[in-house]
Amino acid sequence: MKFYIILGPPGAGKGTQSALLAKKYSLLHISTGDMLRREIEAGTELGIQVKQTIESGKLVDDETMLKLIKKIISEPQEGIKGFILDGFPRTLPQAEALDKMLSERKDSISAVIYLDIDEDIIFQRISYRAKMEDRKDDMERSTIENRIVQYHTKTEPLIVYYSNKGMFYRIKGDKSIEENFKEICSIIDKIEYKR
Ligand code: AP5
Ligand code: MG
Repeated sequence: MKFYIILGPPGAGKGTQSALLAKKYSLLHISTGDMLRREIEAGTELGIQVKQTIESGKLVDDETMLKLIKKIISEPQEGIKGFILDGFPRTLPQAEALDKMLSERKDSISAVIYLDIDEDIIFQRISYRAKMEDRKDDMERSTIENRIVQYHTKTEPLIVYYSNKGMFYRIKGDKSIEENFKEICSIIDKIEYKR
């Protein structure tokens, strides 16, 4: 199974690009944010547990996230060639635990694609989406700021972590959806060709 990670700040285009990549490369798109929002919507025990954290723009604890990821990637999957992880891992302990999980099943990460965008574009995109969709963490500027702070303090260290492992690709996420998609596909195609 292939494992691709798509990394980037809020609004970078992780979800948008992951959906396109999942379709093109027969991957299962795992968006931890979407999963947690569905749990909140359904009012499950997990949803009740994480609601306040998500709506304030903080990160859910590592233990909860790892349980969630472990469950999905261990389920039997038919008709897919791998996974695209969107929004996970988001902390160093999550990244280390993922490496361990994958090595235990003799899998590894094929590539980490980092969508790099500037802060003004983050606000532009999220405030645009706030008009279209009803995501509680998109509504207040202070919540978006919290998400950005969480990203810088807890997620950004993953850039060095994965760069040191040599499967890290940075692209500027501020181009059109189509241009960014083309660029990511060319990275994936090159990796696959080398195998
Ligand atoms: P999550 O849902 O992952 O939110 P996020 O990281 O803040 O990212 P977004 O979903 O806002 O942005 P995106 O990069 O997916 O961009 P999108 O494609 O939508 O996480 C939410 C919360 O869940 C977290 O804050 C945390 O509480 C919790 N959580 C989730 N995973 C966790 C974990 N592992 N550990 C702990 N907590 C966790 O694009 C944004 C907008 O821009 C869209 O409107 C889109 O149409 C548009 N757009 C996209 N690309 C372009 C482009 N190239 N040009 C113009 N517009 C574009
Ligand atoms: Mg998303």
